[in-house]
Amino acid sequence: ETRVVRSVRSLRRAIEPWAAAGERIALVPTMGALHTGHLALVKLARRKADRVVVSIFVNPTQFAPTEDFSKYPRTFRQDFRKLEAAGVDLVYAPTAEEMYPDGFATRIVPEGAALAGLEDAFRPHFFGGVATVVGKLLLQVRPDIAVFGEKDYQQLKVVSRLARDLDLPTRIIGAPTTREADGLALSSRNVYLSADERARAVALPHALVKAAESIAAGQPVSRALAQGRATLSRAGFETDYFEARDAETLAPLKRGQRSRVRLLAAARIGATRLIDNLAVPEG
Ligand code: PAJ
Repeated sequence: ETRVVRSVRSLRRAIEPWAAAGERIALVPTMGALHTGHLALVKLARRKADRVVVSIFVNPTQFAPTEDFSKYPRTFRQDFRKLEAAGVDLVYAPTAEEMYPDGFATRIVPEGAALAGLEDAFRPHFFGGVATVVGKLLLQVRPDIAVFGEKDYQQLKVVSRLARDLDLPTRIIGAPTTREADGLALSSRNVYLSADERARAVALPHALVKAAESIAAGQPVSRALAQGRATLSRAGFETDYFEARDAETLAPLKRGQRSRVRLLAAARIGATRLIDNLAVPEG
């Protein structure tokens, strides 16, 4: 049976007997509007733990005033049914007042990967909001493991570091990106795409695959990146960034660096901003 709780108090009460019985607890944080990518995280969590908690919270502090917070898709009923079918034990869907009560005055400010540019250059408020809410969720649930998608690669790095730096007892696990048959990464924001934009959006994963292959084949990185940006531009994207970085630190590549290279991209098509990333295969 899948239960729903909306306060920290009832969350703790639901979890207490599991922890007391020595069961392993997994947390999968989400903002709802669940798709197959989220459900793949849930499946991985179920394999690795006895109990799975999924949080659904559209976190206002990670959206800028100009962004899509108010029109972000909210589909709780369908989300709940999907989580029930996936065998989730507990859905934690706190209210904004529960997470940020009057007088709330403390934030987590991540550095390192959060300051590596990429998303941070275009959404400077974003990782502060993510780190604060994820820190709170990890302390509220105190799970043994928490699963995050590689789809949001920089976020995964920021959260992994946060858990280590704050000595949280949770192991952060990364899950591979779930894609549509044509390669487009699943995203809650894909519902914003018109049919024409959806058809052109496939240029994003294609550009990443092509650039990764070129770099793996020994082409200069700068040339592979320029080709990728040109591909996006031809498909009608406005590119925020299309870059190659060190896969662990997200720092710019060292001269001649060919190992642990990650390609990361964000681009806008119409009013919709899509992000994606890909590992460059090694020798
Ligand atoms: P949201 O965008 O709902 O994503 C929730 C989790 O699902 C994240 O870990 C994200 O990386 C993962 N995910 C999304 N699409 C995916 C895909 N196609 N394949 C694999 N994993 C995918 O990310 C957030 O919410 C928020 O920032 C959050 C961490 C919940 C903090 O508010």
